Amino acid sequence: MKPITSFLFLLPLTVFLSLLPHLLAVDQTNSTNLIAKACENSSHKEFCVASLESSPDSQNADLPGLAFIALKLASSNATDTATHISKVLGAGNLEPLFEQALTDCSEHYLDAIEQIDDSLAALTAKAYKDVESWVDVALSDAQACEEGFKGQDGDALALTRRNRVFRQLCNNALVINKLLA
Ligand SMILES: *[C@@H]1O[C@H](CO)[C@@H](O)[C@H](O)[C@H]1NC(C)=O
Ligand SMILES: *[C@@H]1O[C@H](CO)[C@@H](O)[C@H](O)[C@H]1NC(C)=O
Ligand SMILES: *[C@@H]1O[C@H](CO)[C@@H](O)[C@H](O)[C@H]1NC(C)=O
Repeated sequence: MKPITSFLFLLPLTVFLSLLPHLLAVDQTNSTNLIAKACENSSHKEFCVASLESSPDSQNADLPGLAFIALKLASSNATDTATHISKVLGAGNLEPLFEQALTDCSEHYLDAIEQIDDSLAALTAKAYKDVESWVDVALSDAQACEEGFKGQDGDALALTRRNRVFRQLCNNALVINKLLA
């Protein structure tokens, strides 16, 4: 090739390369904006934004990544609650009614953890319908746990708070999953 021809051959590439940083900048998603968008349809927007931002991974996440993080947060929260329930049960010396309710909750939370873990696999496979159904089952688990404590107070209130937080974490995952579907 003569030098002039090789230059002409390279020209389109040079133009492309000089435009690349600009193209990337335009395309680059601002994580603050993306988290706000992900939480837009949440009934608890501030909680949704704060919980996603609590994960360092959310800084570089795309929308499916944020859905994954939301499910992970729900999963670790359910695990934390299951552990808490085991400890309270293990300490013994409980009112029989409270002990029965806790035992039921323990089973519900173990199921909820399974549902969320299955949802994580479904999300990876882009099976958004499955994610929705299984997160819904996890929500019913927390609801059933809550109903077991009806009319009780004292230590039951701590569980009520945990059920509420877990359900909000599930709802975050559901609204992001809806945006993907
Ligand atoms: C992202 O967007 C928000 C809202 O428009 C803005 O406040 C923030 O400074 C932006 N962050 C970056 C890193 O561009
Ligand atoms: C789960 O939520 C409960 C209730 O707010 C909180 O006490 C607990 O620290 C959370 N655990 C995790 C691992 O998110
Ligand atoms: C989110 O909310 C907006 C405004 O209320 C609505 O137009 C949109 O359809 C909703 N998106 C989803 C996926 O639910």
